[in-house]
Amino acid sequence: DRVVPFHGPHQAGITTPVQQHLYFASFDLTSTADRDDVRSLLADWTDAAARMTRGEEVTAEGATGGGPYKPPDDTGEALGLSAHALTVTFGFGPSLFDDRFGLADRRPRELVELPSFAFDLLEDRYSGGDLCIQACAEDPQVAVHAIRNLSRIAFGRAQVRWTQLGYGRTSTTTKAQATPRNLFGFKDGTANVFGTDTADLERWVWSDGSDQPWMAGGSFLVARKIAMLIESWDRVRLEEQEAIIGRDKGEGAPLSGGREFTDPDFDVVSTQAGGPAIPMTAHMRLAHPDQNGGARLLRRGYNYVEGNNDLGQLNAGLFFLAYGRSPQQFIDIQRSLATDALNEYIRHIGSAVFAIPRGIRPGGSVGDGLFG
Ligand code: HEM
Repeated sequence: DRVVPFHGPHQAGITTPVQQHLYFASFDLTSTADRDDVRSLLADWTDAAARMTRGEEVTAEGATGGGPYKPPDDTGEALGLSAHALTVTFGFGPSLFDDRFGLADRRPRELVELPSFAFDLLEDRYSGGDLCIQACAEDPQVAVHAIRNLSRIAFGRAQVRWTQLGYGRTSTTTKAQATPRNLFGFKDGTANVFGTDTADLERWVWSDGSDQPWMAGGSFLVARKIAMLIESWDRVRLEEQEAIIGRDKGEGAPLSGGREFTDPDFDVVSTQAGGPAIPMTAHMRLAHPDQNGGARLLRRGYNYVEGNNDLGQLNAGLFFLAYGRSPQQFIDIQRSLATDALNEYIRHIGSAVFAIPRGIRPGGSVGDGLFG
């Protein structure tokens, strides 16, 4: 029944030990919304999020205290549940900084629409958005309650564009957590940026605000909905699956040898195959900092399963969430992955990029500094 502090220099939900459940929502401002609506919405969202992350109802009146003659302020489904480590993290899409709200001069220079990549099969219905909210919690109802109530508060000012429910974290931000597995059955998050990696966080995750002061201590989020072709993958020989990832399936050790957290050695030659022990097309080789000018990402993705398609195959995959001090880190790594053997078994179907403003001061609002 952990309470994660809402206020601080960085928003919660980035280095916070990854909770089991996610509900993510992307919003568009309504066509009639003006600058004051954006400002008031962010203030209202901040107050409500601060309350809910403490395990409280969305207002003091809450679900039952407002009398019988109006709809309750709080929708009520989290009554009796505690905070369950709820974090609510807010972000701003590139379109927030177009001509509508007079915010063009506040746009971080790093915040550009992502270019298209090899194998992209993006759909509008899973992409883009003016604003986003990432709610993570150890209980799915707590995460859903947060997004549902924040959507209600937005009524008339912003509306949901798309949402994503995620169960089962696929990464970790602390070595106190065991490395979880993705739907291909491999450990995911072994080589992540951890919450204790202070130097890497400064270098690769937190913005220094040199371009936009309101971003100092903030970050950038790339969200990709990646469908995984589970049935095809499940027919692949174990040896081939391991060659595609570059790690063994049982322990998650690099194919060059050692244990899970041993550094990979890309020069080791396989005595059986004759070629490199970690193949040139292995996902882990191509995503590694050595191939990407040292670039790293803090990955915080979730598994999703959304029923079956007409052929009875699972609609399932990875909702990939990665934080960096610039979206460029994702762009560079994703370009390297053009020759990734994994591409045969995955399809990127959704995409969005958001600036994640700095942490919120007690009494302040998310995005303070945007309007001043
Ligand atoms: C590593 C799976 C997509 C970036 C890994 C690992 C697995 C994995 C099993 C090895 C364990 C680990 O260190 O976490 C997947 C799957 C994907 C996917 C199943 C799609 C469904 C992506 C994408 C990116 C990415 C789109 C970024 C553009 C990375 C990075 C590493 C990694 C940076 C760590 C490399 C290292 O430093 O060793 N991934 N991944 N992955 N992946 Fe992915």
